Amino acid sequence: MNILLLGSGGRECAIAWKLAQSPLCSRLFIAPGNAGTRDHGTNVALSLTDFKAIKDFCLAENISLLFPGGEDTLVAGIWDFFKNDKELQHIIVAGPSKAGAQLEGSKAFSKKFMQRHGIPTAAYREFDDSNFEEGLEYLEQHTTPIVLKADGLAAGKGVVITSDKEEAKAVFSAMIRESRFGDAGKKVVVEQFLAGIEVSVFALSDGRHYVLLPEAKDYKRVGEGDTGPNTGGMGAVSPVPFARGAFMEKVIERIVQPTVAGLAAEGIVYQGFIFFGLINVADEPYVIEYNCRMGDPETEVVMPRLDSDLVDLICAMNDNKLDQVKVQHSDKAACTVMLVSEGYPGDYAKGKVMSGLDQAGGSLLFHAGTALKEDEVVTSGGRVLAITSYGTDLKEALAQSYLNAGKINFEGKQYRKDIGYEF
Ligand code: AMP
Ligand code: GLY
Repeated sequence: MNILLLGSGGRECAIAWKLAQSPLCSRLFIAPGNAGTRDHGTNVALSLTDFKAIKDFCLAENISLLFPGGEDTLVAGIWDFFKNDKELQHIIVAGPSKAGAQLEGSKAFSKKFMQRHGIPTAAYREFDDSNFEEGLEYLEQHTTPIVLKADGLAAGKGVVITSDKEEAKAVFSAMIRESRFGDAGKKVVVEQFLAGIEVSVFALSDGRHYVLLPEAKDYKRVGEGDTGPNTGGMGAVSPVPFARGAFMEKVIERIVQPTVAGLAAEGIVYQGFIFFGLINVADEPYVIEYNCRMGDPETEVVMPRLDSDLVDLICAMNDNKLDQVKVQHSDKAACTVMLVSEGYPGDYAKGKVMSGLDQAGGSLLFHAGTALKEDEVVTSGGRVLAITSYGTDLKEALAQSYLNAGKINFEGKQYRKDIGYEF
């Protein structure tokens, strides 16, 4: 089958790498892709907000599977666009309907959903302009740290955690009254702070059944020891040592099953990936957030540890037969170390020439923010390159990624030296 993958990050590069290995994949197109995705398929210059152009491309290239990598197109309703169009209906969309994507698209929706289905999550209240004053009083009485979340999509920047009540009020005010996060922040969720260690769990759901993919842990802060501002992710590891046995049983019984069953009970069509952003508080799992797509940089370790054929799994999803497949996870450990541009997650320069890419043997290089300029690979984003390695254990995998992190160069190269430090 011909496949169109939407996106241009490290996640999409890893997904492209995996899709291209499937005997079921005839031609793979990536829109818009990056300098690395070219190794796995054909990049096409499509705007992801132009659904009509995506339609025309799918018809012209006889696409049978559309794989939206990121949340934006899903939250904007690409599933509904395809399923409501007679010419496109037959195309498998590996992602939820617009209603299902609300699990990520609206924090207020996801918190209410979890309440309705008894899914463990931090206690919270919701505020907007209509109860703004009440919100300020609520913040005054709240225990610290305080967690403030913009309701809508804010490209990973919509969460502020502070122990300073004045700062909390200022952020609250900026979100609701000054549109700091645009419309995404007009509604704010204020929630209890949970202290623990995070883990990302991934399910592929056919709407009734689901399979679990390898779990992962990502490292969001820019600085070593989890310090400094949040980023899109500086690295990831899989497996996560504590995510097994009794803990995983709780995750499945209290979180994964009720989520899949809850969506079905509410008549929300969800055939796609569910990303459970969890936190382990004294061996009890809580949901920090849902995402309606795979994680980045988690995918850069999840795909390498997924031994099953991804296209096969997606076809089983489309046929409502995920109860009949057994997903094979690799016994090997995998890690990824992200090379980023100097200044990231703030302002950074682009267009820096990259060298050493062909000398980095023994690792998978998933390009995140790269482009081709004439015949050279240059940086084009904050997160530039995910260096993924396998090992018999995490230590061995990390040593390999760090070896190659030293060999690949571009002006201003930065990376965290402590990925996987807790394990
Ligand atoms: P989110 O965008 O919801 O993933 O939040 C970004 C990050 O903020 C999470 O990965 C957590 O590290 C942190 N976070 C969010 N909510 C909470 C919470 N209730 N308690 C503690 N940390 C949180
Ligand atoms: N790594 C977190 C995310 O993809 O949202």
